[in-house]
Amino acid sequence: MAKKILTEHINVPGIETFDVYRQHGGYAAVEKALKTMTPDEVVEEAKKSGVRGRGGAGFPMGMKWGFLAKPEGIPRYLVCNADESEPGTFKDHHLMRSIPHLLIEGMIVSSFALGAHKSFIYVRGELLYVVRILEQAIAEATAKGFLGKNILGTGYDLELVVQPGGGAYICGEETALLESLEGKRGNPRNKPPFPAVKGLYQSPTVVNNVESIANMPWIINNGGDAYAAIGIGRSTGTKLISASGHIRKPGVYEIELGVSVDEFLNSDEYCGGVRDGHYLKALVAGGSSVPILPAHLITKTANGEDRLMSYESLSDGGFATGTMLGSGGFIVFDETACIVRNTWNFARFYHHESCGQCSPCREGTGWMEKVLHRIEHGHGSMHDIDLLVDISKKIEGNTICPLGDAAAWPVASAIRHFRDEFVWHITNPQEASRPGAVYMGDLA
Ligand code: NAI
Ligand code: SF4
Repeated sequence: MAKKILTEHINVPGIETFDVYRQHGGYAAVEKALKTMTPDEVVEEAKKSGVRGRGGAGFPMGMKWGFLAKPEGIPRYLVCNADESEPGTFKDHHLMRSIPHLLIEGMIVSSFALGAHKSFIYVRGELLYVVRILEQAIAEATAKGFLGKNILGTGYDLELVVQPGGGAYICGEETALLESLEGKRGNPRNKPPFPAVKGLYQSPTVVNNVESIANMPWIINNGGDAYAAIGIGRSTGTKLISASGHIRKPGVYEIELGVSVDEFLNSDEYCGGVRDGHYLKALVAGGSSVPILPAHLITKTANGEDRLMSYESLSDGGFATGTMLGSGGFIVFDETACIVRNTWNFARFYHHESCGQCSPCREGTGWMEKVLHRIEHGHGSMHDIDLLVDISKKIEGNTICPLGDAAAWPVASAIRHFRDEFVWHITNPQEASRPGAVYMGDLA
């Protein structure tokens, strides 16, 4: 059985309440950190753990904390990014609604480490019931002396605010989130300056994902070195994976980083394999923003090695042959899935969610959606395939925030790996546009 850092107690009845959470060792990390450690020592444990940002980018959390500017007399903020909206990603939602005190405890320890006295949890706007759950947990923790003024008599004060999000995917981009938190439209800012220097209200701010922060209680209780001993190479610790699509057991799983993709996909401990009577066609390993992998590259890398659930192994070969661990949104497609239709669906999503600030993203996502629509509906031409590649190249790297890249990569990788399927749509327009029609390749 794999090590469980975040989900060990998640199914205990009543774990959402303060008392049951406390009976299972909850808030011990707050006591240890605030009573026996300095903020710098807490930061040091985060650095030693090697834990990387679990929202998708995988940036080392301790290093990000180390970048936080500390000018005299200026407040610092910790903002938890709980605006989980990446298609195929639902792990933070699961964590917050099931074991909210884990996040609250992580927020207290992390705020203490950063010297923040007012911290925020920005929750996806559609998840209002999760806002209520977190507010209830905060009220309980405050009543027990773990939040508010002079926590546990240590002299440390912390106010925790839960903010419902603006209801747009782009508000999960960290600088758009900060704009939204300030009461403005959620438009991403240019970086640099990074939030660590100029963030919320122009003050130094750390923005961390829910899962990243929820790791901190375990890291404080057991030490950063113990965390770093789990996992593989620079992919330390465990990771929550949201598994969906054509598998026998969809759900949220906590894996030790480094488990093989084959084991994760096929063992009964996790996904249980592709649904009965069907076979694997493609995989999106890290949410809709990452390149898609065809069946022959899912369990083996381009070099023939076992592909592992780790930041390094999934991206083996770069975007030419690999994908990314990203947010851990593991979407499995069997042979009944139409790649063109799916790519069009993703493109439609990004076009709808583009904030419109930069032309390559605003116009390019719309063009990609239109071109994919016409290919899928039997009106495409062979030139359209090159046109899509061209548009995706013009978007990539030329936008303010990563939404542009996120829109471009799935299109470029779908064409790279499934060109035959695009060609089939164009050369067999009547058959391809029939509802439910799927390219069967060699099986046709
Ligand atoms: P990024 O790579 O630009 O930044 C990562 C983090 O490191 C940021 O917090 C940034 O401020 C910090 N950072 C990087 N360089 C720094 C420096 N020199 N000084 C100080 N701080 C620095 O990536 P970003 O834009 O934060 O995230 C993109 C990822 O988000 C994508 O991989 C995508 O998969 C994921 N994503 C996840 C979603 C979800 O629902 N979980 C939704 C949408 C995207
Ligand atoms: Fe807005 Fe797209 Fe530019 Fe991001 S890349 S700032 S979403 S227009």
